[in-house]
Amino acid sequence: MDRIRIRGGKQLNGTIRISGSKNASLPLMATALLSDQKFTLHNVPRLADITTMMVLLQQHGVEINSAAGENGHSHGTTLTLQTRKITSTTAPYDIVRKMRASVLVLGPLLAREGQAKVSLPGGCAIGARPVDLHIAGLKAMGAEIDIDGGYMIAKAPKGLKGARYTFPKVSVGATENLMMAAALAKGTTVLANAAREPEIIDLAQCLTSMGVTVEGIGTETLTIHGVDRLKEATHSVIPDRIEIGTYAMAVAMTAGDVELVGGRLELLEAAAQTLRSAGVSLEPTEKGFRVRRANGQLHGVDVMTEPYPGFPTDLQAQMMALMTRADGASMITETIFESRFMHVPELARMGANVVVHGESALVRGVSKLRGAEVMATDLRASVSLAIAGLAAEGDTTLHRVYHLDRGYERLEEKLAACGADIERLKG
Ligand code: UD1
Repeated sequence: MDRIRIRGGKQLNGTIRISGSKNASLPLMATALLSDQKFTLHNVPRLADITTMMVLLQQHGVEINSAAGENGHSHGTTLTLQTRKITSTTAPYDIVRKMRASVLVLGPLLAREGQAKVSLPGGCAIGARPVDLHIAGLKAMGAEIDIDGGYMIAKAPKGLKGARYTFPKVSVGATENLMMAAALAKGTTVLANAAREPEIIDLAQCLTSMGVTVEGIGTETLTIHGVDRLKEATHSVIPDRIEIGTYAMAVAMTAGDVELVGGRLELLEAAAQTLRSAGVSLEPTEKGFRVRRANGQLHGVDVMTEPYPGFPTDLQAQMMALMTRADGASMITETIFESRFMHVPELARMGANVVVHGESALVRGVSKLRGAEVMATDLRASVSLAIAGLAAEGDTTLHRVYHLDRGYERLEEKLAACGADIERLKG
């Protein structure tokens, strides 16, 4: 298994180009199941999770062509997807267990074919992560769903019907699944207390260009008017806000000065405010924005993860890594996922001072971190260890790098191009 070795102490200086969003690409790719028309998707990042989604869609009958970026999207991949016929309505355990977002095929398959059999995603490194809201929402639209042998067996013999569904809890994936199902349902669907993440807005805009009328885009109430058939469409994936935030934190950690090209500050919302309070300067430029420390020192800040526009749970581990070197203490509270502090013992191996009390972690800044052998446990935890390694004395070796490869495109190349001493050790 590959490892990444980082020799800390180098400042990051230069430019980093931001990739297309992984979490926006996955539901956008699943929309190809809704229609027999051609769908072109630009700016898709080259990542293991994208490949997993391609494999899943292909076994449902989606024809996919992948080419180097076109139309000015020279840094991502352009995918052309077309589903003349659904050849299987089953999403098997072997694929779903690799990537939880596979459940996003449930709504589109059910809406188009009137049936779907999708494996339950099972355990996950960051808590239980149930799918009850996906199921309840589809049931409100007339589906019958049973659980049998670890699979959700869903049927809607007369098709799905528009309905009003209020989410008891904000869920990104369940909102996406129901939006896609509603696109082909008979009549109008109202989703209340829906997620408002930029990835949801991107999906709504894509459905709009496929001929679906979506009202309330960007608000917590989405109204979707179903159609019989979707049109051919072309869409470009938004920049990856989690990649943007991650590199902003890496640059701040090394007291560097980097322009994030293609980075859009407005996608960061609360995370940008938090970074500014910690003493990080973020200034818009023509091509993105520039990150550097404002007055030399980082200050401890309190952070609580929340649904968008609050501070994202997917940046919590990276923010904690940054705060290990701040002046003073920070209270980091995780409200979205249980067990999402697996990076804490690994950061402690590098000399960080972090104490966890329930859903909060108290981080007391230390004057130095020391390189160590550390283990990645999930995607965002792993990159937090890389951030710590960039500012640590000596060598840090990150094991289980496959977690990083799920969500960060060419991480070591992007960091090395800005002066980091980082290399991938194969095998
Ligand atoms: C998505 C993101 C993930 C991010 C998360 C929260 C993708 C591919 N993944 O995951 O990176 O960390 O949003 O921003 O976009 N829940 C239920 N029942 C359900 C569904 C969710 O109780 O049926 C709970 C979850 O356990 C969690 C919370 O709701 O506590 C939010 O989860 P959700 O927004 O659904 O996360 P994902 O869509 O899985």
